[in-house]
Amino acid sequence: MKPNNLENFWMPFTSNRDFKQDPRMIVSAEGMYYTSNEGKKIMDATAGLWCVNAGHKHPKIVEAVTKAVQTLDYAPNFHFGHPEVFELSNRLAMQFPKNINHFFFTNSGSEAVDSALKIALAYQRTRGKATKTRLIGRERGYHGVGFGGISVGGMTKNRMYFGSLLTGVDHIRHTHDPVKNPYSRGEVEHGCELADDLERMVALHDASTIAAVIVEPFAGSTGVLPPPKGYLKRLRALCDKHDILLIFDEVITAFGRLGTMTAAEYFEVEPDMITIAKGLTSGVVPMGGVAVKDDIYQSMMDNADGPIELFHGYTYTGHPLATAAALGALDAYEDDEMFKNAADLTEYIADAAHALKGEKHVTDIRSIGLVAAIELDSRDGAAGARAYDVLKASWDKGLMVRISGDILAFSPPLMVNKAEIDQMFEITAEVLRAVD
Ligand SMILES: Cc1ncc(COP(=O)(O)O)c(C=O)c1O
Repeated sequence: MKPNNLENFWMPFTSNRDFKQDPRMIVSAEGMYYTSNEGKKIMDATAGLWCVNAGHKHPKIVEAVTKAVQTLDYAPNFHFGHPEVFELSNRLAMQFPKNINHFFFTNSGSEAVDSALKIALAYQRTRGKATKTRLIGRERGYHGVGFGGISVGGMTKNRMYFGSLLTGVDHIRHTHDPVKNPYSRGEVEHGCELADDLERMVALHDASTIAAVIVEPFAGSTGVLPPPKGYLKRLRALCDKHDILLIFDEVITAFGRLGTMTAAEYFEVEPDMITIAKGLTSGVVPMGGVAVKDDIYQSMMDNADGPIELFHGYTYTGHPLATAAALGALDAYEDDEMFKNAADLTEYIADAAHALKGEKHVTDIRSIGLVAAIELDSRDGAAGARAYDVLKASWDKGLMVRISGDILAFSPPLMVNKAEIDQMFEITAEVLRAVD
């Protein structure tokens, strides 16, 4: 027997060297709380990694997954199928935007993004527009960690170590302007015209070479950057004008984060594809997917040259346990009216977060839906160090926050209540006062 050695697990997106000196171990969870290995309750202010939207161990999801594992542990979805994954697709189609009725399933958000990019390319080719191969992302975008996702993504560290990435990718400018839009609530006032950056891409590359544009409706992982008013509508209009597909990466925004099923619904903009994951199963079993517009699916059905229309899929596409978790999550969201709770608490969480204006280190605060972000002044030559200290001190005080650079992000499970929101920001204020 080898000794219990923390070095054997190579942790993702983590300072392994630091964590392993002073680990933060989670051993169980229930509702809004984790329990640490020392028996301490830790409030989950981030729904895990923006995924546990129904709260931990929701009975509907636990029951659905338990039943599934006892009934059908695995079934392939290549040339065979199981009824629940069709039922899940039917239910999602009812709740997604009107013309978006086809669902391709993956195991993660990263795979959802790579699948959407591949569907875009395959679609353009099968409909006779094979020169449309270029993919456009946005600076400060996060689209997971596959090669497609980091190529269209716009986060330096996620790109700089990994070579030349996909060819034929370009980026429009990000919309973040804290000077013009300080301490914002909801969509920001200034910057709608930044959508016109797509015209610059068209002028540079020509529309005949561009397959798709992918953006998060609001950028999450780079620090909660709500879109300017009218920006997404303008981007939609430009994509229509130039016959370019618009993909919304809704891995964090779908399933109630803005109080609606999708951000597309919230912002009243219908994209051509929507990538999903996280809240799809409330994080209980890994699952992602691509929601696809009728035109694209139908074109592939009509024009693909082989009996198999799309040469793409995963061993675990539509896995029975993930499917059961997703069906359970949809029940939980509906029965407990969680999207409504999220919508009802939008102003409350905004007020609670914005009350920290003027606290030590705070340079900006942003909120949208059931999300808030607090940006801190970075230490000289040590970007991210202050927020990391806040993360550690918050854990010591019983609160889990998420950090991105020197930005703290709050995205609690959708069943959070007002007292819990108060507590979240009280602890944060205390921590900010104590941290250098
Ligand atoms: C917008 C967006 N896309 C894609 C992903 C990647 O998802 P996953 O970590 O499940 O691969 C994330 C994860 O945070 C995300 O926020």
